[in-house]
Amino acid sequence: MSVSTAGPSTPSRKRSRWQNSDDDNEEDQQLIINPVKRRTKPKPSKEPASSSASVALPNIKIPGYPIHSIYVPPRTHHPPITPSRSVYCYERLNQIEEGTYGVVFRARDKQTGDIVALKKLKLDEEKNGFPITSLREINALMACRHDNVVGIREVVVGDTLTQVFIVMDFIEHDLKSLLTLMPSPFLQSEIKTLMLQLLSAIKHCHTNWILHRDLKTSNLLMNNRGTIKVADFGLARRYGDPVGVGGMTQLVVTLWYRAPEILLGAEKYSTAVDMWSVGCIFAELLLKEPLFQAKNEIELISMIFKLLGPPTNSSWPGYSSLPLAKTITLPSPHLHQFRQKFQYLTTAGIDLLMSLLTYDPDQRISAEEALDHPYFTCVILLSWYRYVFTTPFSESPLPKHPDLFGSFPSAAAGEKKRKVFDSPSAPTRPADYKLLTDFDM
Ligand SMILES: Nc1ncnc2c1ncn2[C@@H]1O[C@H](COP(=O)(O)OP(=O)(O)O)[C@@H](O)[C@H]1O
Ligand SMILES: [Mg+2]
Repeated sequence: MSVSTAGPSTPSRKRSRWQNSDDDNEEDQQLIINPVKRRTKPKPSKEPASSSASVALPNIKIPGYPIHSIYVPPRTHHPPITPSRSVYCYERLNQIEEGTYGVVFRARDKQTGDIVALKKLKLDEEKNGFPITSLREINALMACRHDNVVGIREVVVGDTLTQVFIVMDFIEHDLKSLLTLMPSPFLQSEIKTLMLQLLSAIKHCHTNWILHRDLKTSNLLMNNRGTIKVADFGLARRYGDPVGVGGMTQLVVTLWYRAPEILLGAEKYSTAVDMWSVGCIFAELLLKEPLFQAKNEIELISMIFKLLGPPTNSSWPGYSSLPLAKTITLPSPHLHQFRQKFQYLTTAGIDLLMSLLTYDPDQRISAEEALDHPYFTCVILLSWYRYVFTTPFSESPLPKHPDLFGSFPSAAAGEKKRKVFDSPSAPTRPADYKLLTDFDM
């Protein structure tokens, strides 16, 4: 079943219209609004001339001087603040994609020759200065440095206030495009490796108090060395922060990957929303198409009910207290349909999928727990005389080493798939390979 090939987009952050890549400069020139007026006379500063003065006099109130805590390190202890480099340090190669909040280019660093990706933030219609969402995106990328999170290199600026770019490592594919282009789905052993990488990135983000809030296959990049990198922290936020009166926004997570508690209007949610999206991604890797291709929220809820069975008091004790629960008519109780939908998945795989796609956010598996799931590692007890050994081993098939993944032409790098008549093609994988995946022939 396929509703739309493009799929739903990231919820809108009330952002600007698209700015054509080819006339960036022209449009930006027109869009310089309210250039900062320079003061003719400098205002008398309340700060002491030298910051060291404030450190030398901790906690002593001198009229005209602010009180500094002795715990605040002096300015000289901070890393030196240098201005952002110019975008002209990079040579633009090609446009990769225009997403919801920015356009992404492939570029070459003129000094080092490194190939990078530049994401131009859409700032052209901002009226209130630099948007908090862009600050969060940069901040989250810096806070979540990890092998499986796309590496941020720097932030560069163009000629005008609306030209700000995040410079990242260039990664050849995004998982959504790759799944569309691949002739056959990933093997079970490959899916295990990808899931291990994804879970370890999400564990790292959650440990660092960052919720991603837009996990989906188009936001997962994959290089030709079998490594995936979580990208697009445009909706990310710290979840340890005190939440405002209105709670956290429900306008998060692209529809198909949105957790049921957000759909039903929960004002407080946490790391479990990312774990639901991880479940949807796991299913998409297995099916080679998105799991819940719904046109709207109502259709999505009924698709979820159909797969999981309607929620009950034990499967989701908090269900009836959710703001939108009363507006929903529950279907008659029936068993979940996981086994019918994922016929070739091992029992441990089904268990992991069900633990991710669990109604109650409090019962939903965390990234840390999922990494220890028997789908990846089985623990058997061997008793020999009076001794009991625990032996960890992986359920068959073993996760595939990233180096053994196949490589694909990168659409982002402008590489084209070789035409079939260029050379005879390699024998395809066995047609009924799904039956063989447990052994990965
Ligand atoms: N570092 C990168 N390397 C290569 N391609 C990238 C990179 N970052 C993003 N892209 C491509 O650009 C697309 C949009 O980027 P993304 O950060 O998701 O922006 P948006 O917030 O607009 O969705 C991605 O789906 C991917 O195809
Ligand atoms: Mg995106």
